Amino acid sequence: MDLSPQELRRLLARAADMKNGAAPGELLRDQTAALVFEKSSTRTRVSFETGVTQLGGNPVFLAPADSHLARGEPLEDTARVLSRMARLIIMRTGAHARVEKMAEFASVPVINALSDFNHPCQQLADLQTYAQHRGDIAGRRVAWIGDGNNVCHSWMNAARQLGFRLAVATPPGYAPNAELARECAEQVACGNDPAAAAEGADLVVTDSWFSMGQEEEKAAREAAFAGFCVDRAMMARASGDALFMHCLPAYRGFEVSAEVIDGPQSVVWDQAENRLHAQKALMEFLLA
Ligand code: CP
Ligand code: NVA
Repeated sequence: MDLSPQELRRLLARAADMKNGAAPGELLRDQTAALVFEKSSTRTRVSFETGVTQLGGNPVFLAPADSHLARGEPLEDTARVLSRMARLIIMRTGAHARVEKMAEFASVPVINALSDFNHPCQQLADLQTYAQHRGDIAGRRVAWIGDGNNVCHSWMNAARQLGFRLAVATPPGYAPNAELARECAEQVACGNDPAAAAEGADLVVTDSWFSMGQEEEKAAREAAFAGFCVDRAMMARASGDALFMHCLPAYRGFEVSAEVIDGPQSVVWDQAENRLHAQKALMEFLLA
């Protein structure tokens, strides 16, 4: 939401060019990008480290145990110190207020690499992936089936940025953030019926029922999400050429069946690859 719709469209077009071989400038030559990751990651870490390297820079990965953050050094001080040495800060954390605080006290751009509230870098890759397979998403119908979580929130923001309809179906008690739902009410309908949400959709999206940090809620969540698995019957309600997306990591047999995620409608590996291209375009946008 920090970008205008026009900037977002330009960024996505640039990401597609990069995927097609356009060379990025050496905007990070001899400079450091600090990756402050307070949660696990496979895709986000590797795509950012690779992207930073391809922009000529050096990624420095800081896990909590390796820095002074876990020993109580204030985030404000960390932000100030990193800003004296790094050209960019890329942060993955729990509470969204932490990434906002990092941005407040840093004097270099701070990229949100996932918080409890949203996952905007994933969203860039997912929008690039839709365009790659089906063209403009404006006016299309997207179904979100599952947890009203961070990734769902980014889809809600994308709906108002790019003008598509989003039907969100969650179990009662797992609805998206109410304030965000009010802000997005023109494009986003929230309910509890997965079959109704999937009906006629051009794209069906889901995510894990157990996000990072929710390990102890596993049994309760598994019970609550019964009936929310995106399986063949659910996909049959969608449009005949509907795509299936999942940010990964996926848990086959829970939020998605193996035959859907490993089937012909699934574009999950393109989503993962496009993290690299979309984030390079994002870093270029912030550095140029
Ligand atoms: N989709 C995603 O952000 O994956 P990682 O947690 O592996 O980075
Ligand atoms: N909702 C998931 C996304 C992982 C990329 C989580 O927060 O763990």
